[in-house]
Amino acid sequence: MSAMGSVTLPAPPKVNLRLLVGPVRPDGYHPLTTLMVALDGPADAVTVTRADERQVECPGIDGPTNLAWAALDALEAEAGEALPPLAVHIAKALPAQAGIGGGSSDAATTLLAADQLLGLGLGAERLERAAADVGSDVPFFIRGGAQWATGRGEVLRPAEAPAFECVIVAPGTGLSTPAVYAAFDDLPAPPPDDHAPVPGTAAGLATWCRNDLWPAARTLDPALARLHADITAAGAAPALLCGSGSAICAIAADAAAADALADRLARALPGMHLLRAGFAGRAREGL
Ligand code: C5P
Repeated sequence: MSAMGSVTLPAPPKVNLRLLVGPVRPDGYHPLTTLMVALDGPADAVTVTRADERQVECPGIDGPTNLAWAALDALEAEAGEALPPLAVHIAKALPAQAGIGGGSSDAATTLLAADQLLGLGLGAERLERAAADVGSDVPFFIRGGAQWATGRGEVLRPAEAPAFECVIVAPGTGLSTPAVYAAFDDLPAPPPDDHAPVPGTAAGLATWCRNDLWPAARTLDPALARLHADITAAGAAPALLCGSGSAICAIAADAAAADALADRLARALPGMHLLRAGFAGRAREGL
C-alpha cells in the first residue's frame, strides 16, 4: 500500500523446518544448513514515511536499538548516497525473542518499504546484501517463500517445502540468540546431516523436522521441555523449537486439524501467546 508518501508492508514470521548447526567458526558465528519458510498468518506491519529526521517507533524497542535503524544505515551504504530522513513505525503482532524472526522480518521489510517509497529500485540482490549487514536471517525475509540457508544463514537457495498448517506457541519468556548458541557450544555435537530428502507432504514433516538448538534452549529454559511435551500430547506432529527459541511450532496436517489443535492448546496452555499460521508454498509478493 502506498499513499501520501508512505509505504506499509506486512512483515511475516518464519519457521526453520530443519536447522542443522556446525561447530563455531573463528568469527563467532555457527555454520548452518537450514530450511526456512515464511509463514502466512499474523504479521507485523511496517510503515515507512518521509520525515524531518530519522525515527523508529516500535513498542519496547524504539530508536537506534531497533534493527530497522540498522536497516536504514545499510540501505544508505548500499545506495551509496545520503537518503532523505525516514520514519519507521512498526505495529507488532509477533512476539520478540521467540525464534520466529520478528525483528529480522521488520528490518527486511523496512528495506523493502524504504526502497519502494524512495523509488531506489535496488532490486533483490542489492537489498539482500544490505540485509546481510543487519543480521544473518534478514536476507531470507527479502526473498520469503521457502529457502535453504547456509553460511551463517545469509546464503540462500530456493527450496521446495510441503504446505502445512501450524500453531506457534510463544511462552512469555524469550531466549537470547547469542546465549542459545553459547549453550550449544557447551553441549555434545549433534549428529551429522543425514541428507534426508524434504518430504512431499505435511505428514512427512513429523519425522523430518530437526532443530540442533533444541538441547541448548532446553538447558537455558528447562520449562520448555514440559511445554514441548504438552504440545506433543495435544497432537502436534511435530512440535518443533522455532529457530533459537523460545517459541514452539505445533505442526498439523491440514487447516481443520490445526484449528482443532489451536483450540486444545488454548485450553491446555492458558496465558500462552498462540499464533495460527501456515505455509502454502507461495513466494512472497512485492519484488
Ligand atoms: O547475525 P545475527 O546478528 O542475527 O546474530 C546474532 C548472534 O547469534 C551472533 O552474534 C551469534 O552469537 C549468534 N549466531 C551464531 N551463528 C549464526 C547466527 C547467529 O552464532 N549462524
